[in-house]
Amino acid sequence: MTQDEMKKAAGWAALEYVKKGTIVGVGTGSTVNHFIDALETRKEEIKGAVSSSIASTERLEQLGIKVFDANEVSSLDIYVDGADEINADYDMIKGGGAALTREKIVAAIAKTFVCIVDDTKQVDVLGQFPLPVEVIPMARSYIGRELVKLGGDPVYRQGVVTDNGNIILDVYNMQITNPKEMEDKINALPGVVTVGLFAHRGADVLLVGAPDGVKKFEK
Ligand code: 5RP
Repeated sequence: MTQDEMKKAAGWAALEYVKKGTIVGVGTGSTVNHFIDALETRKEEIKGAVSSSIASTERLEQLGIKVFDANEVSSLDIYVDGADEINADYDMIKGGGAALTREKIVAAIAKTFVCIVDDTKQVDVLGQFPLPVEVIPMARSYIGRELVKLGGDPVYRQGVVTDNGNIILDVYNMQITNPKEMEDKINALPGVVTVGLFAHRGADVLLVGAPDGVKKFEK
């Protein structure tokens, strides 16, 4: 089974958590793209979606799924999204696709976060994947220096502008043994929009695509 086939299996498995008559929170990335394809098969049953990126919005709309602005909804039943890494507590690194801030906002509105990944994303300690940080452009150098003080090696993601008009610093060589504390420290730096650590709002349900099928875990 290829990695993409495992992503597809996880994406389609998330359909089970979609309830009739609801607005579904939709993340960003190649695994979520499979979920969006699956969601199309139930589009007559749902009211629509709230999307975490321009890319997902375009895909949803192309498939005839109505996209609501996040300000139009007070609560979502579920939010379905992928991750770059997830640990045993369901803390995640996200933002490989640069959509971390909007992902965090939609996740915050949702009652249940359904994380869909292939089995290469499961780790003991977060940090092997470079940690994305969305930064206001004028703060780039300052934040870079502060991230070095926190023990990381930040690298400017060349040529990437987020949907919010900001830049991304990817922080290499972090061993994140206390994800909540690290999330707080980085988010507190002036100029950081958000860090791609999802520890305060981690996943509730984990669907892992593996060669022998999809494994389901619930907190
Ligand atoms: C985008 C994300 C994605 O969820 C993460 O990068 C995983 O992507 P993929 O499903 O393509 O492996 O956080 O900002």
